[in-house]
Amino acid sequence: MTKLILRALAGETLPTPPVWMMRQAGRYLPEYRATRAQAGDFLSLCYNPELAAEVTLQPIRRYGFDAAILFADILLLPQALGPKLWFETGEGPRMETTTTPEQVAALRTSGAIHDTLSPIYETIRILRRELPEETTLIGFAGAPWTVATYMIAGRGSKDQGAAHALKAADRATFAALIDRITEATVEYLSAQIEAGAEVVKLFDSWAGSLKGADFTDFAVEPTRRIIAVLKVRHPETPVIAFPREAGAGYIGFAKATGADCVAIDNSVSPEWAAENVQPGGCVQGNLAPGHMVTGGQDLIDATRRVVDAFRGGPHIFNLGHGITPDADPANVQLMVDTVRGA
Ligand code: CP3
Repeated sequence: MTKLILRALAGETLPTPPVWMMRQAGRYLPEYRATRAQAGDFLSLCYNPELAAEVTLQPIRRYGFDAAILFADILLLPQALGPKLWFETGEGPRMETTTTPEQVAALRTSGAIHDTLSPIYETIRILRRELPEETTLIGFAGAPWTVATYMIAGRGSKDQGAAHALKAADRATFAALIDRITEATVEYLSAQIEAGAEVVKLFDSWAGSLKGADFTDFAVEPTRRIIAVLKVRHPETPVIAFPREAGAGYIGFAKATGADCVAIDNSVSPEWAAENVQPGGCVQGNLAPGHMVTGGQDLIDATRRVVDAFRGGPHIFNLGHGITPDADPANVQLMVDTVRGA
């Protein structure tokens, strides 16, 4: 029996969509908070294979999701390229910035990332032993543009202003940085697949701030390059692309990049995505994460609406973005029951 997610990714329309959730291992779960306290800080948890595997498994035990996503972070790869990374409590990530030609040239080569990232591959090996046989293991990386926004600003930002400014002021340096991240991402995802990841996903959380030709050059093109190499090395491994808030950019994104599935955020309606994106292949999404906080009949209605909208083609049920720390674990159970009973 082939796993449900792999069947959907191969283009099959299933009577009930497989389901998992972005950030399904996280602070809304008491068992996650306990393991995180045991590990110390967030990065120590990411680099501890036993504990990272444990938190990856927690939402599978609770909800029986069809997929587990490796517990790690998109900022581990840039950290492996050299810049220091830390998390300010209550604020988010901080990074040494990379904005000059000298700093781009000083980044480690893509072959040198594995020294830092080998614990991540060990987490994957543990998970392949411990996951139930029907559960698909998803590996991931940030897409180059999103990773570059953190490397350039040294932190998260609402408008990615620092990255847009460098792109405008010194396009050659900006493009060189995107190239370095693109090459390293290929090596990182290849190593994840070799360790046992069955699907990989590229998170382009800030794709929506790239407009016009910039969207083509820095959201579509790096994703296309990464997938082109992965398809040569690992043709059997499906790739999910998530160009968040791409809007009209979702149309044709799978074809332009070679992605097997496009993940849709909740700024577009499921009916719009079913009509305009799903003809291009499998889609994933797109329930608003706020329902995991508010619950009730609204959650049931919105969940059924997403299931119904995508019923005519291959679909993986998910949220439109990560679940938030204030979500109620009981609402997640209600969502899963509604998907499976709908
Ligand atoms: O989805 C999963 O459960 C897998 C693990 C995962 C994490 N981050 C764990 C995490 C994945 C796939 C990510 C991706 C990620 N990380 C993205 C892209 C997806 C998105 O959400 O847009 C981005 C932009 C990051 C960078 C990042 N990591 C930020 C901005 C923050 C701080 C914000 C926050 O929620 O605290 C993180 C921290 C982070 N990554 C946490 C988790 C569970 C919270 C850390 C904690 O336990 O304190």
